[in-house]
Amino acid sequence: MMTEPVSFADIQSWAQKEVVRPGLTVSGGEIELLLMAAAGFDKATLIARQRDPCPGQVVEVFSGYIARRIQREPVFRIVGKREFHGLELELNEATLEPRDDTECLVEAVLQQISNRQDTVRILDLGTGTGAVALALLTELSNAVCVAVDVEQHALQAALSNARRCNLRTRFETLHSNWFDGVEGIFDIIVSNPPYISSSEIQELGEEVRLFDPQIALDGGDDGLNAYRVILAEARNHLATGGFLGLEIGHDQKASVGRLARMSGWNEISSFTDLAGLDRALILR
Ligand SMILES: C[S@@+](CC[C@H](N)C(=O)[O-])C[C@H]1O[C@@H](n2cnc3c(N)ncnc32)[C@H](O)[C@@H]1O
Repeated sequence: MMTEPVSFADIQSWAQKEVVRPGLTVSGGEIELLLMAAAGFDKATLIARQRDPCPGQVVEVFSGYIARRIQREPVFRIVGKREFHGLELELNEATLEPRDDTECLVEAVLQQISNRQDTVRILDLGTGTGAVALALLTELSNAVCVAVDVEQHALQAALSNARRCNLRTRFETLHSNWFDGVEGIFDIIVSNPPYISSSEIQELGEEVRLFDPQIALDGGDDGLNAYRVILAEARNHLATGGFLGLEIGHDQKASVGRLARMSGWNEISSFTDLAGLDRALILR
């Protein structure tokens, strides 16, 4: 902990030294984000106020944030929000932190949509923060979405995010185990389900293993449990001409593709993320 008086620049340099610990990588950008959150500043204000004294209360909050980061808590969990597809989304303990990789699924879905004048009905299975659903609603002004999650607390974050993004009137939540409570027909069914095999969970970095909810990660013995249910049941809720969009793990194209063909899906296209890894499937 620092003794006063300190400037914003001083406290940033203090934090940079404090986070040098074995096995921990914290970038300068993360430290900046934490200080901006503690002070309630945007980036321009932080730059302009570098030499100003940092109030004791900000020092205290920021030191607490740095202590949490040292305990491996990810920076976006500490500040309680993260940007996805240009939207600022609130997180809570029940939500996965949305990942940039998931933008690949959003883009793959958007590429399938030709200019439609009538309403597009979307079902998002395992919505978490609502990331995928809200990104699609932002891009498709004629779409409405039912967002499903088995975690009631995650649905609270999703609803709050829909309000933040001014999309509440086109977004509804449903507390359900996959399709159990789903009624009706949709033009697009989309899901980023849990897909990590149970045995691999223990090998994940502490930032993920200790802070993302297990239920959002664990796809069972082979990582494919959720795909089995979704691939088997989606057809009962898909409109003629509709499609299913799935995020997959980088090594799951063949295994999910095999399951899909066994469940009767015969048109399958795959999409890669910015790193060139297989990341999304569109199935018809
Ligand atoms: C990988 S996270 C994806 C969250 C969000 N869609 C995203 O892309 O950031 C998987 C989500 O599926 C939800 N989930 C897990 N099992 C479920 C089930 N049986 N029924 C419905 N949702 C489930 C989890 O709570 C979690 O929110």
